[in-house]
Amino acid sequence: MSRLQAEHLFMVFGRRPEEAVARLKQGAGRDQLRGEGTTAAVIDASFTVEPGQIFVVMGLSGSGKSTLLRMLNGLLEPTSGHVRFDGEDLTELDPRDLREVRSKKISMVFQHFALFPHRSVLDNAAYGLEVQGVPREERLKRATEALELAGLKGWEKSWPDELSGGMQQRVGLARALATDADLLLMDESFSALDPLIRRDMQDQLLELQKRLKKTIVFITHDLNEAMRLGDQIAVMRDGAIVQTGTAEDILVTPANDYVASFTQDVDRSRVLTAGAIMADPETAIGSTTADGRSLRTAQDVIAAAPATVDEDTPIIELFTPCSTSSTPVAVTGGDGELVGVVPRARLLAVLGEPMTPADEVADVPGLVKTGDESNGKGDAEGKVTAGA
Ligand SMILES: Nc1ncnc2c1ncn2[C@@H]1O[C@H](COP(=O)(O)OP(=O)(O)OP(=O)(O)O)[C@@H](O)[C@H]1O
Ligand SMILES: [Mg+2]
Repeated sequence: MSRLQAEHLFMVFGRRPEEAVARLKQGAGRDQLRGEGTTAAVIDASFTVEPGQIFVVMGLSGSGKSTLLRMLNGLLEPTSGHVRFDGEDLTELDPRDLREVRSKKISMVFQHFALFPHRSVLDNAAYGLEVQGVPREERLKRATEALELAGLKGWEKSWPDELSGGMQQRVGLARALATDADLLLMDESFSALDPLIRRDMQDQLLELQKRLKKTIVFITHDLNEAMRLGDQIAVMRDGAIVQTGTAEDILVTPANDYVASFTQDVDRSRVLTAGAIMADPETAIGSTTADGRSLRTAQDVIAAAPATVDEDTPIIELFTPCSTSSTPVAVTGGDGELVGVVPRARLLAVLGEPMTPADEVADVPGLVKTGDESNGKGDAEGKVTAGA
């Protein structure tokens, strides 16, 4: 299957790159090499992306994200290491076979997507197929389908300048989808869009991915975007991947202070789920509610809970139940059995973590507002009501 594997990838620019890799492997630092006029853009990057997954690479400017991506599609030959896709080692292919793989199996979507101004939207979407030499009729058919997938049905005959920025970016996505490539490489693809449209595109990508199950590597410097999209997130710093994990792993158990500082401003209420923060059911069994009911069994806990949710429920939906009752929210599994409880104190503790202690006290009623702001959307309150 179309699994992507990066194995110990190094990319060094400048003089004597192989020698630099040997020194990096012995523990030399990036700064040390830079002093000698050599840039270690990517240092020992390894990961696997399964088909159907979105693998997000996140990091500050200059951390090596684009360089890593260019190695994945063979635009840059790694100084050391291997890229395997669909059973082939891209790093071992001769240039002709590599070009073939690149045009048939891999698609790139960039941040600033250049459309041809004098071609219709349809012809723009069909461009990748044209490069592949697909006959006109078939490529227009496939481009039409791809435009529909990207939400642009009815715009086929329009000109690029009749489209908004967001729609133009959708044409870029359609162009990538039309080629039927199994591997989609997206470099800051949504970064130039304004926040509302950006969120739309994220939703659309998630929706598409459910159906198409591509292998996707998505680069962003926006942590919230990373957390929304990524099944796995790799955090890069100075050329190296410092942590790979799910959004929850990165929030709850950051590998180091750098990752922790990165996640400080994340809207935890939307990323963390009831399952991630719940306490053992035993902690509630045997307790007594504020109005004097004793909770002797799991059934009692469920009956007394202000809400019953499943493990995947974002904790933002627990605010209202937790604010109206001091009895814990019940978390149930697939068979309706009690798998955990979320007491109010636990919810507040998790959300309070990134704040200073003084803020924590002052800001409790404002927690919903925090989510609101970082999201730029104002739908936080709607969510809370819906979850109540
Ligand atoms: N062709 C090149 N020659 C020399 N140095 C390069 C080259 N390409 C990239 N670099 C250097 O490699 C490092 C990583 O660059 P890269 O573009 O991969 O970072 P990035 O994480 O994509 O940054 P951004 O978020 O700004 O796009 C930088 O120090 C950059 O200057
Ligand atoms: Mg880049």
